[in-house]
Amino acid sequence: MGKLIVANWKLNPLTVLEAQHLAEAISEVSPHRVVLCPPTPFLTVVKYSLLGAQDVFWKAKGPFTGQVSPAMLQNLGVKYAIIGHSERRSLGETSQEVREKAAAALEYNITPIVCVGHGTTVEQDELEVVDVLRQQLDDSLVGLPAEKIVVAYEPVWAIGSGKAATPDHAEKIGIFVQTKYQIKTVLYGGSVNDTNSASFLAQPHVGGLLVGTASLRPDEFNRIIA
Ligand code: 13P
Repeated sequence: MGKLIVANWKLNPLTVLEAQHLAEAISEVSPHRVVLCPPTPFLTVVKYSLLGAQDVFWKAKGPFTGQVSPAMLQNLGVKYAIIGHSERRSLGETSQEVREKAAAALEYNITPIVCVGHGTTVEQDELEVVDVLRQQLDDSLVGLPAEKIVVAYEPVWAIGSGKAATPDHAEKIGIFVQTKYQIKTVLYGGSVNDTNSASFLAQPHVGGLLVGTASLRPDEFNRIIA
């Protein structure tokens, strides 16, 4: 069965034309479910069968300057939303806010991709990592229907560093999140590329990938999703 591969473009590219060209260059044919998450201003101009947002607010409308409404995303046909990425948590987003956002997304039939992760170095003790993940997951998922939520595990040190975790470590975390939280799909993210992607996807408890840098290189991303 296919897995879930999510392209997180982060704050790239800069123009509508570049965004459209990038999406056009990504194959629609894959044994996996492939989701493109462009920046919010490009959600209406990028054409791809499955689109995701990079954030969503917990209210649908009202006096909330600058926020992204789940109702508006639903209206645009957006099916997924990345929530609580470590790059947002480092700006102060809390697990309680992540929970509110995930609940709001679900209300509008948008699948939340709840991100968790910890560790500033590759040497960080696995038990310590699991401890922090447990806290993040307890607070981010409380009261939510586990079967409707995707969790993405990204060690902070692996993001954008060119140094991925081992597939074995990703598998262990996948088992932990699946068994403790009944989450069906647990993604791995952090320096995924076309050389290491297959070994992550081969792990039975790694339900897919959250790809940053390599998702901006269409040839490489096409090899990953192939
Ligand atoms: P990189 O693939 O660039 O390491 O980014 C990972 C990530 O943060 C995806 O959300």
